[in-house]
This record gives sequence, C-alpha cells and structure tokens, in this order.
Amino acid sequence: MTVRSDAAESTQAGISEEIEQIAEAWARDGKSETQPRLDYPPYRSSLLRHPTKALQQVDPEGVELWAPVFGQRDVDPLEADLTIQHHGDPQGERIVVAGRVLDGDGHPVRGQLVEVWQANAAGRYIHQRDQHPAPLDPNFTGMGRCLTDVDGVYRFTTIKPGPYPWRNHRNAWRPAHIHFSLFGTEFTQRLVPQMYFPGDPLFALDPIFRSVVDPAARERLVATYDHDVTEPEWWMGYRWDIVLTGPHRTLMEASDQ
Ligand SMILES: [Fe+2]
Repeated sequence: MTVRSDAAESTQAGISEEIEQIAEAWARDGKSETQPRLDYPPYRSSLLRHPTKALQQVDPEGVELWAPVFGQRDVDPLEADLTIQHHGDPQGERIVVAGRVLDGDGHPVRGQLVEVWQANAAGRYIHQRDQHPAPLDPNFTGMGRCLTDVDGVYRFTTIKPGPYPWRNHRNAWRPAHIHFSLFGTEFTQRLVPQMYFPGDPLFALDPIFRSVVDPAARERLVATYDHDVTEPEWWMGYRWDIVLTGPHRTLMEASDQ
C-alpha cells in the first residue's frame, strides 16, 4: 500500500517540514479554524480514511431512539477513580483531572456521561494492537467514567499517561494524552476529544496534534496545571473545561491512536 510504505520511509524531519509548510500556508491565509483537518498528509492514515463524500444528514430524534440511556444508577461514583480498580496501586504519577462541561452559551451541562481511556504510565494500552515493549501494569486498566454534577463538573483520579510510539513515520511518538468521550444532551452531539498536558516537548512534532492547524484552537486541547486541585502528599491537579457547542467548541479528533 503506497501510504504505508511511504510512512515507513518518512523521517521526523520530513514530517516536521510538511507540518511547517501547512502551518505557513494557514498563516498566510489567516482564517481561524476550529476543527482538525480530516485529510492532513503528515498524519499518513488520514489520507485513506477521511470522508470523501458529503456527510449524511440524519434525523436527531430518530437517532435518539437507538441511543443508550444512562441514569445515576448506571454509573458508580467509584468508576471515576482509575487508581482503585485492582488490588494494588498503579505505577506512576497520581493525578486528578477535573473541569466543567459547558454549552456554547457557558451554561453547565448536567448529568453528562464522561468517559476516559488512556495508556498507563509507561505509555502502554491494554489492547491487542499495542505490542510495543513497555510494561503493562496489573493494577491499571486505563478506563473510567462519571456523570457531571449540577455545575457541569467532572472529576477523575488517575495516573499520568506516558508518551508512546506509533508507526506514522520513523521515530513517531504521541504526546501524553487522555481520550475523552462525551455524549452530549443529544446523541448527535457526541464529542471524542483528546486532552494533552501542558509543556509537552512532543507537541510540535505530532501530526495528530498539529492537524489542528490554528494554534489558538490547539491550545484548547491542553489542560492547565492547577495547584488548587493538587492535593498535598497525594496527587497533582489538572483542569480542563470542555465546550460542546458554539464557537469555542472543544475539538473532536478522528484519531484512534
Ligand atoms: Fe491514545
């Protein structure tokens, strides 16, 4: 397959040059972009799997007839703590990630199902396709969920995930990130973003992060370190708010990486 062999031969320097060319073209154009580009050549597989036809319009009410329905009883509050799912403590840096889910007008979205999944501290997922030689952690599965409270607040206790290699090109590494899924108040609002950690040295190099070409929009994917969320002797705190609709909407990433 052309794209695959091309990806294997690509170097980080070549990918970075492509990324910068696209960034420069965007800067010349100067238009703000609020979404990732679906066909972003430095992210090799996006060339083959991005939609090439107009999206199908669906009747939201019809879709909702088939949508799952979650209530308070279905989600145990303990499911928001990814560090207590096994007999022992997981390895790594214990963190809390908290924030608010808001609509485009800044109103809290209450009772929202928020799901997360992530790699462990060594950058390894419990997934058949992830076979890179970093250790699995018997005390960490990497999945959790919660419902937002009356103020739209969600909160997870977890372990800071590690960066991990992927095969987009030679020596390709993903910045540390946590995958989020939000169902929204309508099923068609479902949002699947990735949250990143501030100051990651891989930001400039990562074609998935850089497929959001507008730097202001990229910034909205990065959590803020919040010392008020940090708990003495126990965890580091990060804050990340999510906006479901409107001009400040958090970006949806098509990636499954
Ligand atoms: Fe990932």
